[in-house]
Amino acid sequence: MAARPVAAPIEEIRQTFEESAADEEHFPSTIDPRILHVRVVVGAMQGALRVLDLGCGKGRFARLVKDAVPECQVVAFDLAVAMLRAAAPVLDRCAGSMLELPFPDASFDGLYATESLEHAVDIERAVAELCRVVRPGGQIVIIDKNADHWGRFKTPRWEKWFTAEELNGLLLRHCRQAAAAPISYWEDVPADGLFLCWRATK
Ligand SMILES: C[S@@+](CC[C@H](N)C(=O)[O-])C[C@H]1O[C@@H](n2cnc3c(N)ncnc32)[C@H](O)[C@@H]1O
Repeated sequence: MAARPVAAPIEEIRQTFEESAADEEHFPSTIDPRILHVRVVVGAMQGALRVLDLGCGKGRFARLVKDAVPECQVVAFDLAVAMLRAAAPVLDRCAGSMLELPFPDASFDGLYATESLEHAVDIERAVAELCRVVRPGGQIVIIDKNADHWGRFKTPRWEKWFTAEELNGLLLRHCRQAAAAPISYWEDVPADGLFLCWRATK
């Protein structure tokens, strides 16, 4: 997995995101529901009664999942309390680390993580944890950047990007099926390969 060699302690990562919450330009609290990333997440969570947004930031995806599936309990989970404060009160907001999830085994029907797993540092542990809390048959969606495009942006020193095969391999340790595909922002714009979408069934 592409990464700079030195991992940051989780407290440094948390502090960075606590401060980033004030930056609405780079960490927006809303997202256009027509964006394909949103449509894939919302589509995969249809029918779920309890869903976890892992590393939800300000809950911009979670809000749209809740709008689309009102009967669903959507848990918005993030390391940074300042991010969660900006999330809609209709969500169940919970602070903590994805390396140690405060939820029982198999307690969610669906889970998604958009541009957050890349900050987990210990990716194996994060994937084991996220798979642990999803019930057998539950749906998992991960959207993150593709390691084949590493270097396109300046990134924090702890950030890691994954190839399709790397993250598929980790998911398949815990899931019966997993596959990755490039994903574009817009339906009429071909994917340039920067973002990959992993879909897995526990
Ligand atoms: C780039 S933001 C993405 C936020 C949101 N998923 C979105 O697409 O709007 C990354 C988020 O991951 C959170 N994060 C980073 N490390 C985390 C960890 N170990 N556990 C939980 N959340 C974490 C950060 O606090 C931040 O809100």
